[in-house]
Amino acid sequence: MAKISMLGSGFIGRFYADSLQGQRSRDKIVSIYSRREESAKKFAEDYQVAHWTTEMEASISHPEVEVVCISLPNNLHEAAVLLCCKHKKGVICTKPLGRNAEEAKRMMEAVEKAGIFNGYLEDLVYTPKFLKALESVQNGALGRILWAKSRETHPGPHSEWFWDKEQAGGGCILDLGCHCVEIARSFIGKDIKPVEVMCWADTQVKPIDAEDHAIGLVKYENGAIGQFEVSWTFRGGLDLRDEVMGTEGTIWVNSFLRTGFEMFTTGKGADYVAEKAESNTGWLFPVGDELNELGYNHMFTDMFNSMESGKPARETFYDGYVVNAVLDAAYRSAKSKLWEPVQLDVWRGKTGVEKGKGYTEYDEQYYLVKEEMTHFGAKKVILKDKKSGQIIEKTL
Ligand SMILES: NC(=O)c1ccc[n+]([C@@H]2O[C@H](COP(=O)([O-])OP(=O)(O)OC[C@H]3O[C@@H](n4cnc5c(N)ncnc54)[C@H](O)[C@@H]3O)[C@@H](O)[C@H]2O)c1
Repeated sequence: MAKISMLGSGFIGRFYADSLQGQRSRDKIVSIYSRREESAKKFAEDYQVAHWTTEMEASISHPEVEVVCISLPNNLHEAAVLLCCKHKKGVICTKPLGRNAEEAKRMMEAVEKAGIFNGYLEDLVYTPKFLKALESVQNGALGRILWAKSRETHPGPHSEWFWDKEQAGGGCILDLGCHCVEIARSFIGKDIKPVEVMCWADTQVKPIDAEDHAIGLVKYENGAIGQFEVSWTFRGGLDLRDEVMGTEGTIWVNSFLRTGFEMFTTGKGADYVAEKAESNTGWLFPVGDELNELGYNHMFTDMFNSMESGKPARETFYDGYVVNAVLDAAYRSAKSKLWEPVQLDVWRGKTGVEKGKGYTEYDEQYYLVKEEMTHFGAKKVILKDKKSGQIIEKTL
């Protein structure tokens, strides 16, 4: 059983609390910090939390608290992490870890120096669909991974601070791209170094300083390519989709819209359909169990199982730091219009990985390019002569 301090009583704090204390969970929020008394009290009431406070340090240092869950705006993550280090409390922090890699690196170094448990709350690499897809990828069902694309787009965030570049640290690249980068990175292999990023970003619709729409490519050292598509201007709800392509197969995952639950209503009844849904009438695409579909349950299970067994979680502050470094390169590329190197002062994965080739042998003389059964019943093979390089075709 984990005894938790929750910092922040907003959107994600409540999603986390629903997951942490849902079903027959033994984990318990024992203290809530919120900057306003009425919000702290309301949260304490809603989730039966014994201790509430408007002083962050009082919640972190509360004697019952073992682990602190940071659900605060991005500009407050670092200060909260440093207090957890001071009081030697384990810490799990929502995404993005930092507003940039420099901030994330400081947080990573601080928790490692303090020797406290640290977990990066990247829920979208814990969804049941993602976990199953990753297992297939890791079992080799897709062969060598060549491309992993992740898309998160919606009509924009729900609180004012997200829209302020100083507090948020950026726009949709940071807010949504952090999910997409970690998803693609997981499929490609977290030990494979992201080396370069090319990114287009623009502010197409909203009256803000940060970007509201972006597309980026992340090159990995083994030749695989990651792709992210993010937007705060997408209309139609929360679009969460991943695609992975390997030499032996493909996976398409749709995590939120059109997942097989379709409903029509004239509008009578409840207002809430699903996160970021834009309509509650007509044809709707609800989500069966959002907490589970968004990965929160599996994420907290991993966090607390790891904490209790003294092992690192699947997602640590180091992962948050790598993601921030990739996104920093994306911001640089959007400005320079060039491929920008990912600057990773700390890298714990493989180095010097060669770009995979692995041509398919046909026989001693040829590589196999392609085989195909045609509509007129002929089996054809296209071959490349290993010595001369000549391409030929044979009908078998
Ligand atoms: N899927 C996800 O993992 C996910 C989803 C949404 C948000 N988040 C992250 O969670 C964090 C919080 O986002 P949110 O959506 O809950 O925001 P929110 O605005 O709904 O809630 C933020 C909380 O912080 C408090 N707060 C705001 N400004 C503060 C200040 N200056 N001092 C102290 N407290 C302050 C608010 O009162 C509120 O309790 C962000 O880092 C965001 O990126 C993660």
